[in-house]
Amino acid sequence: MTDTITDERIAVVGAGDMGHGFALHFTHCGKDVTLIDHRESNVDRARERIREVVAFHVEEGLTSMPPDEVVDRITFTTDRPAGVAEADLVLETVTEDLGVKQELFDDLAAETGEETLLTSNTSGLPITDIAAGAPEAAERIVGCHWWYPPYLLEPVEVIRGEETAEAAMARMERFVESVDREPVVVERDVPGFVWNRVQSAVVRECMHLAEEGVASIEDINTAIRDGYARRTAVIGPFETMDVAGLALFQTVAGDLFPHLSDADEPSRLFDEYLDRGRGGIEDGAGFFEYDRPASEVTRTRDEGLAALQRTIDDFREE
Ligand SMILES: NC(=O)c1ccc[n+]([C@@H]2O[C@H](COP(=O)([O-])OP(=O)(O)OC[C@H]3O[C@@H](n4cnc5c(N)ncnc54)[C@H](O)[C@@H]3O)[C@@H](O)[C@H]2O)c1
Repeated sequence: MTDTITDERIAVVGAGDMGHGFALHFTHCGKDVTLIDHRESNVDRARERIREVVAFHVEEGLTSMPPDEVVDRITFTTDRPAGVAEADLVLETVTEDLGVKQELFDDLAAETGEETLLTSNTSGLPITDIAAGAPEAAERIVGCHWWYPPYLLEPVEVIRGEETAEAAMARMERFVESVDREPVVVERDVPGFVWNRVQSAVVRECMHLAEEGVASIEDINTAIRDGYARRTAVIGPFETMDVAGLALFQTVAGDLFPHLSDADEPSRLFDEYLDRGRGGIEDGAGFFEYDRPASEVTRTRDEGLAALQRTIDDFREE
């Protein structure tokens, strides 16, 4: 495959939490977008969610394109073969299930031209395993992992599968930059890539501390949100070690690592909360109680993220 193609016609397969966000973000960036799902009801729901999110973006001053215009520019369909036929790039963002993704890539390989880049937004399934579903197209299959909400967070992992062509990596990186995002190149196809490995390590330790009664869930949450994460929003972990001095972190690592959780199974706290019907905001309760609809909780989160982004952008421009 060649790496000279500019990826302008984008087909997004899967119109759920991530898919609707991709469709509106790529449209804001001037791409020609088709959003595909196998359920008509999910296509309709995505159209409404896009309207709501774009209205929020207009309020926040993140875009001046009205919701109706964004929706009008996107092609919504359940006809996948027609939806992907003319695409330069297909971004798969369906259910996190290896079998489902392998079958889909097998179909996509047959439904697209040899120059079409096939990409997966999997949270952690190895790209090589997904590509095993379509061996004849493996060189044009590449990982492209975003975080939620994709229209507010900037880094995007670009993951090299064992058979991914150099040209596919180059095109993927260029595409990510063309939609105002920052590529994080993952050279080895390890489970969880970078962000989800680190997030899982943090979650494991937080759950361990709570389980052991070292501190309350509220206090652990506050320590990470208002302390560790706030500083990490300005300088990352390697910069932090530079500032504090590597020798100090070496000493702390030597003292502390033997005491950290090395659990290889999810904490029992998950079952304890789930068994009580406390699965998170959709249930009105998880580790905390929620007396507002889930959509309002996520909106508040998004307002906070947008405010943080504006502050950091202003600070970096000074
Ligand atoms: N939600 C997140 O925070 C997040 C973050 C990063 C990555 N991801 C990854 O993104 C992918 C999608 O996650 P989501 O949260 O958007 O899921 P979701 O359940 O909200 O949406 C998935 C959509 O895919 C559709 N679908 C399933 N199989 C299909 C098929 N064969 N053809 C067409 N449509 C199909 C479903 O109808 C549904 O609308 C997963 O791989 C997930 O791991 C999710």
